[in-house]
Order: sequence, then structure tokens, then C-alpha cells
Amino acid sequence: MALLEVQALTKQYGKLEVLQGINFTLEKGQVLSIIGSSGSGKTTLLRCLNFLETPNSGKILLEGMPLFDGDSAAKTTAAEIRQKRLHFGLVFQSFHLFPQYTVLQNVTLAMDLQEKERAKQEKRKPNKQKFAQNLEKAKQLLKEVGLEQKVNSYPFQLSGGQQQRVAIARALALEPDILCFDEPTSALDPELTGEVLRVIRELRNTHTTMIVVTHEMDFAYHVSDKVIFMSGGKIEEEGTPQKVFDNPQSPITKAFVQKSKL
Ligand SMILES: Nc1ncnc2c1ncn2[C@@H]1O[C@H](COP(=O)(O)OP(=O)(O)OP(=O)(O)O)[C@@H](O)[C@H]1O
Ligand SMILES: [Mg+2]
Repeated sequence: MALLEVQALTKQYGKLEVLQGINFTLEKGQVLSIIGSSGSGKTTLLRCLNFLETPNSGKILLEGMPLFDGDSAAKTTAAEIRQKRLHFGLVFQSFHLFPQYTVLQNVTLAMDLQEKERAKQEKRKPNKQKFAQNLEKAKQLLKEVGLEQKVNSYPFQLSGGQQQRVAIARALALEPDILCFDEPTSALDPELTGEVLRVIRELRNTHTTMIVVTHEMDFAYHVSDKVIFMSGGKIEEEGTPQKVFDNPQSPITKAFVQKSKL
């Protein structure tokens, strides 16, 4: 069974149909790249998966269980949405680190909040040992993204590439089933994109399931198991990178691929 299954997902902003019936599946441990021109709905799709937007209709299934069902979505409470959101991690184009916290605190914050919320629900005091574990886990994650020297720095003291690697460690801390990236390198100077793409490649090697919206065609070609090309709110073409890039069927995909000069 697919880890993620998206069925007939639609999203409208007023009269604008931004997602017009998106269907795809993603297997555990696979990397899906989503490519497509500006305004085709890529960010909106990621925001719907992460419950930052509510789709108008359709279904999102995780291991066959409905996370979102357009027919019953109105009844979902804010607390339920917070729980559902935990299945996905999201790394934004512009990092979104908390400027007032150190690198280490940026990574521990959400884990600590989670423990506090659990403690509240279970009517107990937060577990101090858990906070200590979170600290160790954050240090380990920061080591894995090559930032063990920067744990006590503040975001403004880091390069864009380093900030993005903190954002990746922070997203991994909550152990999402699927880690999503929205153009993770497009705010970076070209010499800094490599270090971020290297981290994503390493995550692939440890079988992290990922969805990467990207304009880096070379990366999409070499790192993805599957590529989706979006155009005008629809999936115009999907398949292996070889199929989509080397042998596109649709004229729109062909034109896009040619323009991106892989
Ligand atoms: N909150 C919003 N309200 C109204 N329209 C929106 C909103 N967010 C996105 N849109 C519109 O939806 C369409 C798709 O936007 P989206 O950001 O998903 O595109 P994208 O594929 O991510 O583009 P890009 O490559 O430029 O990031 C665009 O026409 C955009 O103007
Ligand atoms: Mg976008």
C-alpha cells in the first residue's frame, strides 16, 4: 500500500481553481519531485498536504487511513488538525527560523512544546528527562546536517545555506512520515545550494520519504524516484525522471523540459 495517496484534490481561491483534481501516490522511502512553471499550484499542493490550507474537495490518505476527506472536513477540530499536521514536515524557501532563539533552541522548540501539550492532555507535569532527550536529539540532528559548531549561534549569524540546514534539522526533529520542501534552494546564492541539496541527498540514502518542489532540474533528474510536472493546477505528466525528462509525452511538458535545458 502506498504511504501517501492523494485523490481528486481541489482547491479554489474565490473563482480561481488552483488545484483541479490532483491524484498521485507516494511509496515509503521514495522521493517525489514536483516541477512546473510559476503559478501552477505547487506551493498550494504542499500547503494542503501540510494542513496550512484546507482543500475544497478530495481525499488525502496516509497508509490507507483518511487524513483529509472533503466530505467530512468541516467537522475537524483545530487540535485534530495539529495532530494530522505532524505526519508532514515542511521546509520553506525562506527558512522561517525563529530569530530570537539559538540554532539549538530552534530545533528543540517544537519537540518541547509537544511534550508540554502531551503533559497537559495527560494532566501531568512535563517530563524533564524528555527535555534532556530532546536536547540530545537536536544536537545529533544538527551534527548530521553539519552544524555541530553552530548550535549556540543565532540565525542572523548564519549563511542562508546554514539556516536552511537548521530548518531541515528542525523539521526532522518531529519525525514526520513525509518531509516536504518548497523550493529549498531558490533563496540561496548558487554556491550555497550544493550544501542543502547534499543534505537532501543524504536523507534519501537513509530512506526518508520526501516531496520536493524544485526548479533544480538536475537535482530532480538525479535524486527523484518519481517526478510530477504540474501545469495550470493539474498534473500534466508524471513518471520516472527518465520518462518525464527524456521522453515526455505531453507537448506542454516537452516545452517546459526543453526550456529548462537539462
Ligand atoms: N492565498 C491565496 N489567495 C489567492 N490566490 C492564491 C493564494 N495562494 C496562491 N494563490 C494563487 O494560486 C495560484 C497557484 O499559486 P502557487 O503559489 O501554488 O503556485 P506555484 O506553482 O507554487 O508557483 P511558484 O513556482 O511561483 O512558487 C497562483 O495563481 C496564485 O496567485
Ligand atoms: Mg511556489
